[in-house]
This record gives sequence, structure tokens and C-alpha cells, in this order.
Amino acid sequence: MLGQCRYSYSVLKYCKQKLTFLQTLHNSRKTQISFCSTRCTTGRRVLGIETSCDDTGAAVVDEYGNILGNALQSQTQETVAVGGVIPFHARDQHKAHIEDVVEQALKEANVTVKDLDAVAVTVKPGISMCLNVGLSYAKKLVQEHRVPMIPIHHMEAHALTARMIEQIDFPFLVLLVSGGHCLLAVAKDIDKFLLLGTALDSSPGEAFDKVARRMKLKNLPECYNMSGGAMVEHIAKQGDIEKFPPLEILSGNRSCNFSFSGMKTYYMRLIEKEEKEQEIVASNVISNAGDVCASFQYSLVRHLAKPLHRAFLFSEMRELLPEDGKTLVVSGGVACNQYIQQGLKKVCEKYDCRLVCPPPHLCTDNGIMIAWNGIEKLKAGRGFAEDPQSQRFIPKVPFGEDLTSDVANCTIKVRNANLL
Ligand code: KG4
Ligand code: ZN
Repeated sequence: MLGQCRYSYSVLKYCKQKLTFLQTLHNSRKTQISFCSTRCTTGRRVLGIETSCDDTGAAVVDEYGNILGNALQSQTQETVAVGGVIPFHARDQHKAHIEDVVEQALKEANVTVKDLDAVAVTVKPGISMCLNVGLSYAKKLVQEHRVPMIPIHHMEAHALTARMIEQIDFPFLVLLVSGGHCLLAVAKDIDKFLLLGTALDSSPGEAFDKVARRMKLKNLPECYNMSGGAMVEHIAKQGDIEKFPPLEILSGNRSCNFSFSGMKTYYMRLIEKEEKEQEIVASNVISNAGDVCASFQYSLVRHLAKPLHRAFLFSEMRELLPEDGKTLVVSGGVACNQYIQQGLKKVCEKYDCRLVCPPPHLCTDNGIMIAWNGIEKLKAGRGFAEDPQSQRFIPKVPFGEDLTSDVANCTIKVRNANLL
């Protein structure tokens, strides 16, 4: 009952404050000053909690997109050392750090849980036992302090983070490239996505991590403390993309789906061949690692570019995006990669589309994106958990309305020669 009162109170409060928010937004647009620079400093605040994979994140964000407090305990180093996320270990790490991380975020924001308008928490998709840690902790907080809970879809949060830093109106195209996913969709609203393409096998982040591991890049002092993808990007800067032929793309496929398993095999074989030829032993790294990394990145961006071209053409056919003012948002860990960003930008230029990539700390997993997604839902007045204590986590869940077959049935041709 008390929880319900608190919920209604929050909705009432929302109605009153919406007017102020719209006025601020209107003024910021009218004066053509950047969305960020005219932000107010008061307003509703949401705590976001993220534990879906190997990062324990918490942040407090206000309705104007100000990050009031942020804390992150990353397990990247352990993940790199053992070559992947070990669910039991990740769960134990979340358990060990969640309280500190949340307290740190609240302390930095100078608020207590009672001051918050909601607690947003990732409930899907992700590793079950990891999601459970964040959700259980959020349940405890909302029960103790009588605050509404907003369950969050991790990939939707990745997709909408960019709206916190820039004015991006719906609909827009979004490409999510991370360690677990590769999704291409039209974002129509905060909770409405049209899925155009998805990964059929592994993800781009996994391909980056496998290549980095197989090449033993973590043994290079300059790669200390980096994720596999960041290592490959760093080493590729010293390389020449033309030293090895890129992996050719099969032309028969007319969908917006992605496949990276062939790429993994191709580069695993290439590295093995180079190691044999150079008589590499133990922890040593081949002398032309830069060339291999550069070639790999080139192949990967071409594999991203082809479905992206098709997505633009499909969107034109179906009038899914505005004729003027198209935006592509690229987010998720792999979106940190500058080379990939540059490649995708070239594709965007062909369709008169703006490319927006959040800064690296917002591309990889964090609590800020969860808090911001909570703010978006709070502002829209929907997405609250009716009964927080019975809220469940869902490890596997679809992303939006599935149009992938529809795209394939259109058999839209994209020539490999025109990819970048
Ligand atoms: O979004 P994220 O933090 O976690 C998931 O939800 O998966 O993405 C992590 C992935 C890892 O595979 C990591 O190697 C990759 O993002 N990554 C990068 C870069 N930084 C992180 N991949 C390519 N280039 C980078 N600079
Ligand atoms: Zn993620």
C-alpha cells in the first residue's frame, strides 16, 4: 500500500515537473545552445544498478542528464586473464562490491535512497546469477526506502545512452556492438525497437577478444589493463591493412544479420601460420602483430558495413527514418574503437546520416546508462515495476519487434566493392 502511495506520488511529481523540463528543453533549443550546456541542476533523480555481466556499476543521474554520482568496479582484467567471463566468479565479485559501489555513487551524488525518484536496475538480458545480484540488491533498497523500481533491458539502455549527451529524436538507427551482442535496429521510442539484424553466431567483441588472446597481446607491456578489443585497436595502429588480404564477404546473404565465426577461424589460422613461420614460442608475440590486427579490424568493419548499408536501404523502402536528419547511434563496448567509428562514418556519409557514438566510458557497461534509461521511463511515466518484490530477471530476451525475415525477403543487393 505504502509502495503504491509512493508510486502515485512519484507520478504526480512527474506531471508537475514535466512542465519545467519541457520549458528548459524548449529554451535550450530556441537559443541554439548545446543541450548539455543549458542543463539545470535540480530535478528528479534515478539510481541505476548494472550487474548483467562482469561490471558492477551504479550511478545517480538527474532528469537533465547530469551525472551526479558514478561508481564502477570492473572485472575486465580477470576476464582478459582467464579468456572470458566465469559466471560464478563474476557473481561473487558483484556480491563483494555491490554495496560499496552503490554507496559510492550515492555519496558522490550527495543523496540518500529516500531522495531518489526511482531505482533502475538491469533485469535482462545477461548472466542469470549476475543479474540476480543487482536485482536482489535493488529489491532490498526499494523495499527499505519505499522507492519505485524500474526494470531495465540492458541493450535498450545501451541504445538510448546517446540521448543523454545529444539531442536525438526518434526514430533513429542504432547499431549495438558488444561482447555479447550485435544488433541493428530502428529505435522508434524509448521502449519500441524494430530489429533489422542480429548476430547469427558470435559477437564482434568476442571476435576481438579471441584474436587478442590468441596473439597473447596481454603480454605486451603497452597493453596492460586493456580489454581485448582495446589491445587490438592499439596494436593495429602500428600495422598495415594491406599486408594480409581481408576476409571476403559472402555475397549470397541478403539479410541484415551478422556473422563473425568465419572471421575468427580465418584470423586464428593466419596467426597460427605466422607463429609457425616465425618460430614463436611460449608467451612471445609475432613481429607483425600490428599488420594482423589492422587486417582484422578492416575485415570486421566491412562485415558491419554491409548489413548497415542494407538497413539504410530497407529503411528508405519502408520509410522508417526521416528523410532529413537521419542519425545512427553506435554503442556497446566495440563502439569505443576509433577505427570502427571511422569506417561506419563513411557508410553514414553515403546516406546523409549523422553518426553518434557515446564516449568510451558510456559505451562499455556502466551504471549511468541504466540510470538514464530509468530517467527516460520516468519522464514517459511508464515502465515501473508494479510489484518490485516479484520482479524476475530474464537471461535471454528478444530485442524489439523482429523484422529480420522481412528484411531478408526484400533481397536488397549491396555490392561489396561499395562497402566503405
Ligand atoms: O558493452 P560491453 O562493455 O559489455 C558487454 O555487454 O558485452 O562490451 C565489452 C566488449 C569486449 O569484448 C571488449 O573487448 C570490447 O567490448 N571493447 C572493444 C574496445 N573496447 C572494448 N572492442 C574494440 N575496440 C575497443 N577499443
Ligand atoms: Zn553491454
